[in-house]
Amino acid sequence: MNKQEIQQEIAIRTINLNLWYGHFQALFDVNLEIKQGIITAMIGPSGCGKSTVLRSVDRINERLGYVRITGAIKVLDKNIYDPDVNLSQLRKQVGMVFQRPNPLPISIYDNVIFGHRLHRPPDVKLSSRQEDEIVEAALQRVLLWDKVKDKLKRKATIDLSLEERQKLCIARLLPVKPAVLLMDEPCSALDPKGTAAVEELIWELRGEYSILLVTHNMAQARRTSDECIFMLMGKVVEHTDTDKMFVTPQYRETADYIEGRYG
Ligand SMILES: Nc1ncnc2c1ncn2[C@@H]1O[C@H](COP(=O)(O)OP(=O)(O)OP(=O)(O)O)[C@@H](O)[C@H]1O
Ligand SMILES: [Mg+2]
Repeated sequence: MNKQEIQQEIAIRTINLNLWYGHFQALFDVNLEIKQGIITAMIGPSGCGKSTVLRSVDRINERLGYVRITGAIKVLDKNIYDPDVNLSQLRKQVGMVFQRPNPLPISIYDNVIFGHRLHRPPDVKLSSRQEDEIVEAALQRVLLWDKVKDKLKRKATIDLSLEERQKLCIARLLPVKPAVLLMDEPCSALDPKGTAAVEELIWELRGEYSILLVTHNMAQARRTSDECIFMLMGKVVEHTDTDKMFVTPQYRETADYIEGRYG
């Protein structure tokens, strides 16, 4: 599927987003439009605010009592900071994948079905066969089914390689059909083979999911994304087609970064 064939509606929109950790301002007037169905990479030197943007979209930041935000973040046109948004509903719409794969210390099967059980309305009863199908579909989708189909009841934290754990962490988000997947350096704990496998899987999900992928790895941004955002010191410098950014960046700061002059 090429980018034009994928519907270009906006999955995440941030409007004049500013964020402070105590007195320290980490984001400055961040205005982003992340399109539906494509992969958008976010790059920039350490400390420029990439994870802060992701954590704001998932509202994880507010667990810290000293975070203050102004502006708005809309997921599928709904401001997620509106008083009527409940966090559980938001977590259903926004799935997050972290640097270190963090499956729950329960079975592979239960990891995959956990979110679905949590978010399922109480009056919806599924048979174990229906749950089996959900689990299989999610594991197929992340290219893990053949590896784990004979050990679904084994504990996920014992028996799986890092690559398999990260795939499982992605699989467990899928049954609730999130509108967006946020991935914060999902391959940085993996070896090159694991990285290639997880990149392949991310590419597989393209079209069906809107993915915002933070990476330190410039080659990965280039290989795996349709659009790319470059951030510097809490500001968005440039957001454009990935090909364009790497071939003809608009700004000096972007060029310096992708040519490895700092970061
Ligand atoms: N919980 C926190 N409390 C205070 N300051 C924080 C907190 N988290 C991040 N910061 C600061 O906010 C700025 C942005 O951090 P953030 O983690 O978003 O950067 P990043 O681009 O993800 O960096 P990296 O590439 O190293 O992961 C940094 O200066 C960081 O020190
Ligand atoms: Mg980070």
